[in-house]
Amino acid sequence: MVESKSVSLRGKNILGLEYFSPDEIELVLQTAKEMKNIISRDIKKVPALRGKAIVNLFYEPSTRTRSSFELAGKYLGADVINITAGSSSIVKGESLRDTLLTVEDMGVDAIVMRHKAEGAPEYATKVVKAAIVNAGDGAHGHPSQGLLDLFTIRQYKGGFKGLKCAIIGDILHSRVARSDIWGMRKMGIEVHLAGPRTLIPRFLFEEKGIFIHDRIEDAIENADVINVLRIQLERQKSGLFPSTREYARIFGLNEKRLTLAKKDVLVMHPGPMNKGWEISPKVAYSSNSAIQEQVRNGVAVRMAILTLILTGGKSNEITA
Ligand code: NCD
Repeated sequence: MVESKSVSLRGKNILGLEYFSPDEIELVLQTAKEMKNIISRDIKKVPALRGKAIVNLFYEPSTRTRSSFELAGKYLGADVINITAGSSSIVKGESLRDTLLTVEDMGVDAIVMRHKAEGAPEYATKVVKAAIVNAGDGAHGHPSQGLLDLFTIRQYKGGFKGLKCAIIGDILHSRVARSDIWGMRKMGIEVHLAGPRTLIPRFLFEEKGIFIHDRIEDAIENADVINVLRIQLERQKSGLFPSTREYARIFGLNEKRLTLAKKDVLVMHPGPMNKGWEISPKVAYSSNSAIQEQVRNGVAVRMAILTLILTGGKSNEITA
């Protein structure tokens, strides 16, 4: 376990990576490494969170994030239940506040929450005492994704300082982009953004260490990491780019463009992918791709987050 006297996430809400210090990020990444060892074992269960109850409260669709938080809780011995908007009293018009209070009355220790409104998890911290973990709020943040992306980068690259990472696509609607940018900058990665001008809110990113390009080619030139974002059709009002075919032609990551980056460039995508639009199938399944490893790492990083906020992460509890 990480020897750290001053850094602890015990009792903290995980709302966004902008609130993390580099030491706190380090603590999660170190803990996730131990968790990854646990999930590579034949018997994956440890009793670190035995007796704890966790609710996944999801108001938006999810495959990876919801199931990895669920598995994370279960591998740690917690009781985990899922509440999804479509199959709960939310469809009967129950307010977010009432749903949160109902869940709290059942005695839960943590609520992992996804919501279409930015700030909904922060609001939840004012309603209930349980620890809140933001699993994606509108276009604001997706901290566990940002942390698993950092974990994946370090696994392949050995460190962070001085790396060049290109983030390509729909930055405007992407909570993943925001969390990645906050996390990467804190750890010393240089960030290059590219996408249609209508999908890059420039004023938000005019900061040291962040570069904005109109052409994807300029962003990926010599890159160590390329993170491709999904075109979020469900969040777009209208007309922010002409067509998916044109998007693929101008901004899609294909084999030809990939040659502009470093030979050992790491290709990432948070999923779900629109293959053939933002990324070609050949690139998605190439030897440069870490996309499946990101999914594996997602479970370990979420185990780390849950353990750290609910127990502080004492080593005897984890490895027992
Ligand atoms: C992302 C999300 O929902 O924010 N997916 C994920 O969590 N793996 C990205 C996306 O939907 O494009």
